Formats: sequence, C-alpha cells, structure tokens
Amino acid sequence: MTTASSVIITIDGPAGTGKSSVSHQLAKRLGLQCLDTGAMYRCVTLMSIRESIDPLDGDALVAALEQHSIEFDWDVTPPQVLLDGLGVEDEIRGPEVAQRVSIVATVGVVREAMVTAQRRIAAAHRGIISEGRDQGSVVFPDADVRFFLIADASIRARRRVSQLQAQGKHADLDTIEAEIRSRDEIDSGRAIGPLVCPDGAVEIDTTELTLHQVVDRLEHEVRHRVDAAVLASC
Ligand code: DC
Repeated sequence: MTTASSVIITIDGPAGTGKSSVSHQLAKRLGLQCLDTGAMYRCVTLMSIRESIDPLDGDALVAALEQHSIEFDWDVTPPQVLLDGLGVEDEIRGPEVAQRVSIVATVGVVREAMVTAQRRIAAAHRGIISEGRDQGSVVFPDADVRFFLIADASIRARRRVSQLQAQGKHADLDTIEAEIRSRDEIDSGRAIGPLVCPDGAVEIDTTELTLHQVVDRLEHEVRHRVDAAVLASC
C-alpha cells in the first residue's frame, strides 16, 4: 500500500465503458468513496478555456493551477468536483471541454500535478474507488484491486447517444463514434500515463453486460480479495 487509505480500488478504461456508473454503484455497495479523476482533468481544461491558455502550454497551465483550487464536495453522492469552491458540472461535461480535454491530459506537468492531488485525496480517505485512465498503472500501482473495463467502440457510442438523448440533447451516432475513437487514440498514444491495462488488473469486457452484471463482477472480485473486516472498517 502506498498511502494511508485502508482500501484502494482502481477502475481504468476508455470513455464509454461505464466506469463512472460502475464506480458509483460499487462505492454504494461497499460503503467507499469514489474519485472521478476525469473531472479533475476537465476542470483544468475549463480553466484553460476561461483564461484563454493554450491547451499544450504546461507552464501556463501549472501557473493557473496555482491560482485556483480543484476540490470535491464529499458530502454529496456521488462527490461533485468544485473549481474554486463552485460546482461546474454542466460546463465540464459540455462540448468545448470534451473537445480539448484529451489534449490537456497529454501535458506532463499537468499530469504530475493531478497524480500528486489524487494521492493526497486517497490518503485522506479510509477507502476509495479511483476511476480514470492511469489509476492502476501509474497513480496507485499497489491498489488492493485494479480493474480495466473495455467495450466495443460502437456500443460505447450508442450508450453515449442514449445518455445525451435522455438529457434532451441532440446526438449524431457517427459523430460520437468518431469522437470516441479519436479520444481513445490520443489517450492510448500519449507518452505519459497512457491508457493501458495495468499489470495484474482484472479486465472486464462490458460490451454484452448490463451495468448490474458489471457491478456484480467487480463486487465479487473485491470481496474475494479484500478482507471483510477491513472493508467494513472503511
Ligand atoms: O473519464 P473522462 O471522460 O471524464 O475523462 C476526460 C479526459 O481526461 C479523457 O480524455 C482522458 C483524460 N483522463 C486522463 O488522461 N487520466 C485520467 N486519470 C482521467 C481522465
């Protein structure tokens, strides 16, 4: 174990594999907190848009990070990210941030700052499920259980379209699928903290599975690998 947390579980995988929904449900079942690390990269991206910073200008991004705070409100479920103490959920999920976030996430000094912040957050909690792209490979390589979720790009695009339609938003399937494939390429191809299946991770293909089935699989693995008394103490 690398931090003071009693239990660390990581869930990595490309966009649209259901990581967020799975981590929320699993956290509820196990009584743990969940950390959405993508929301942190989205906040840095929102900051760069608001301040007209080039998304590849690491020095300017780090200087801006020093002027602002990215925290979570742990009193709501799931925890909500706060930029300078304010909720920014709608803005960080909007198209402008979506188009830029993969670029910002390639910048090494930004990743270093996020990794430090993520380890600090985990150390402040007794049990956490941390979800992202590099959580099991880079941030918490000694996590108690590491998962890697995958799914066909076409299924992931269809899931995203359904989500957007449920929010009353227009979505074109082909455009969404092209965006997902392009984001996969950038996330997997970057030099620092690329999207990879961590060594020793449990890989689960969610293409043919319901959310409930995926969460069942993860819960089973965690209960098999983590001492019940330790889980109960979180
Ligand atoms: O999970 P998400 O779609 O909210 O992630 C947004 C972007 O941030 C995505 O392009 C990948 C990047 N990201 C990352 O590089 N490392 C993480 N730990 C989490 C997200």
